[in-house]
Amino acid sequence: LFANVEQAPRDPILGLNEQFNADARTTKVNLGVGVYFNDEGRIPLLKAVRNAEVARLEAASARGYLPIDGITGYNQAVQKLLFTESSPLIAEKRLVTAQALGGTGALKIGADYLKRLLPNAKVAISDPSWENHRALFENAGFEVVNYSYYNAATHGIDPEGMLASLNSYPAGTIVVLHACCHNPTGVDLSAEQWAKVVDVIKARGLVPFLDIAYQGFGDGIDADAFAVRQFAASGLSFLVSSSFSKSFSLYGERVGALTIVTANSDETGKVLSQLKRVIRTNYSNPPTHGGTVVATILNTPTLRLEWEDELAEMRDRIRAMRTALVEKLKARGVQRDFSFVLAQRGMFSYSGLTSAQVDALREKHGVYAIGTGRICVAALNNQNIDAVVDAIADVLKD
Ligand code: LMR
Repeated sequence: LFANVEQAPRDPILGLNEQFNADARTTKVNLGVGVYFNDEGRIPLLKAVRNAEVARLEAASARGYLPIDGITGYNQAVQKLLFTESSPLIAEKRLVTAQALGGTGALKIGADYLKRLLPNAKVAISDPSWENHRALFENAGFEVVNYSYYNAATHGIDPEGMLASLNSYPAGTIVVLHACCHNPTGVDLSAEQWAKVVDVIKARGLVPFLDIAYQGFGDGIDADAFAVRQFAASGLSFLVSSSFSKSFSLYGERVGALTIVTANSDETGKVLSQLKRVIRTNYSNPPTHGGTVVATILNTPTLRLEWEDELAEMRDRIRAMRTALVEKLKARGVQRDFSFVLAQRGMFSYSGLTSAQVDALREKHGVYAIGTGRICVAALNNQNIDAVVDAIADVLKD
């Protein structure tokens, strides 16, 4: 049965984790995967999460099946986080939200549903994009193309290129957009650029699919929802995949959600019924723990405040690490100007290091980064940053 099976390539992000874990060097540093580590180099268990977990344990609740679309209080909290409590989309019943297995799970059920709805559509992702976007949509049966996004020369956006790409697509093309904290570049659209993108998408009848995995890591919970709210105001129908892996530090609990914005409440009921079929035939219904914890935090004012403080702390620490990285590289005598790192948002920096330099970082110094030069700034801390700076300085001089 398996005699002719070929070895599949290693996953570019999670495969690197496997390599990192197998590395015996005690000085190794993992700047590969997008995970937030605290200044002690550990993945934090947030106090708000701990408190919600204690409450859950004390409630000693039974573990029956959840509804196919998950916990109602969770789905409602997701909608408020995305669109605000007073959003007309909530009042007009234009939202379908289903709890999903992380952001990836949300993208997958969204992709599977869209494949049924638009079997011949293409999917456009940014150039570059999160490594798994292409694989996930191809796996759902779509042809995937790239729209222009990043300008390596300026370390910024290529706004004309992006609009030209979007303008070249036929109606019905699905456009995957990073709502904030673009992965892998850390480079986001400005408010004016978002407005133009929304206009073109509307004019051409494209189908926006916003991926928001880092809400709160850029400029704050509301500021990071700017693009989502712009699309909401546009009157368009669209999809949003949310992840709480990073913002609640609940990576292994797989807590995410797919939200679909419809045109009216009649569509909402029908779309939900179809989405439930997709979920039922994939994994039946979601698990209880992560969703309950997140719902408890978002729906309990004291826990909510505690979480917002902890999220701000993570955001501020990442910013401090961006500044330290730039200053230390300069102090170390590195000629290249790295100040662009300060303008980037979220966990990542597209460092501009070549794949050969990334290989040298790993092989010579035990510093792991993605082959494209993406580094996870959220994994830097006051203990490892000097070693990382020395390693970057070393590979840049060859
Ligand atoms: C990343 O980009 O490193 C994270 O989103 C983790 C993942 O699943 O790839």
